[in-house]
Amino acid sequence: MIEVKNLRVAFPDKAGKPEQAVKGISFTIGDGEILGIVGESGSGKTQTALALAGLSPRKASVEGEILLDGRDLMPLSREEIRNVQGKDIAMVFQEPMTSLDPTMRVGRQVEEVLEIHTKLDKNARQELALQALRDVELRDVETVYRKYPHELSGGQRQRAMIAGAIIGGPKLLIADEPTTALDVTIQAEILYLLGKLNREKGMSILFISHDLRVIRRLCHRTLVMHGGHIVEQGDVGQVFQDPQDDYTKTLIASIPTRRY
Ligand SMILES: Nc1ncnc2c1ncn2[C@@H]1O[C@H](COP(=O)(O)OP(=O)(O)OP(=O)(O)O)[C@@H](O)[C@H]1O
Ligand SMILES: [Mg+2]
Repeated sequence: MIEVKNLRVAFPDKAGKPEQAVKGISFTIGDGEILGIVGESGSGKTQTALALAGLSPRKASVEGEILLDGRDLMPLSREEIRNVQGKDIAMVFQEPMTSLDPTMRVGRQVEEVLEIHTKLDKNARQELALQALRDVELRDVETVYRKYPHELSGGQRQRAMIAGAIIGGPKLLIADEPTTALDVTIQAEILYLLGKLNREKGMSILFISHDLRVIRRLCHRTLVMHGGHIVEQGDVGQVFQDPQDDYTKTLIASIPTRRY
């Protein structure tokens, strides 16, 4: 469904020479699949995700092919990509407090995609927003709808962000470290929710984390990134049980084991 071919993302260094953050990577994300990307800080995970969502920083140069159901998104203008983004590809980030507008009520933000991409009137949008808030298992959704982001807990904000991402029925949800800022219990709940949305809505998910345990719990398949390259990819079970690459082996060896 999503096919990424030879994706390169580069930033100009101090002398203006392009320095590659993502160095020609290729992978696919199947329909209904949860693909994980794992790797240390600076390995290129976020830049890969942003390129897929058409949200790369302006100064970045992005090359390669990104095919969505066979259609190459790369030649599209930023405006056209923005049309796809939100509708077919939606993204949630690590820190919902910085991605939500503090001055705008939660409901309005959840609906935003519909305001941009559809001609639905206010009532229809509100109905869908309330349903999306229910889909992410928030309680008392009418109240949440009218609240401001700071009036919600961290976990509720992350759920509201996810509601805003899934309201347009995207084919792919990209979640970049969506639980890193949350405590362990809330983190487990959000992972459970993502798994449920994947099963019930058949939505593909690209899930990014530096935490292998989280990847193992949620994902079907995983890519291991290191220095802008994919050093290993495969089914989660296979990568964990029989890693081929030295860097992957180091990562797995560094997982703290629980003692009983
Ligand atoms: N705005 C930017 N300007 C210049 N270079 C950047 C910018 N953003 C990222 N980079 C470069 O791209 C590389 C990859 O960054 P990226 O954010 O994709 O890493 P990451 O794997 O998501 O790391 P983390 O786990 O810390 O989120 C960085 O090491 C940096 O060199
Ligand atoms: Mg990142």
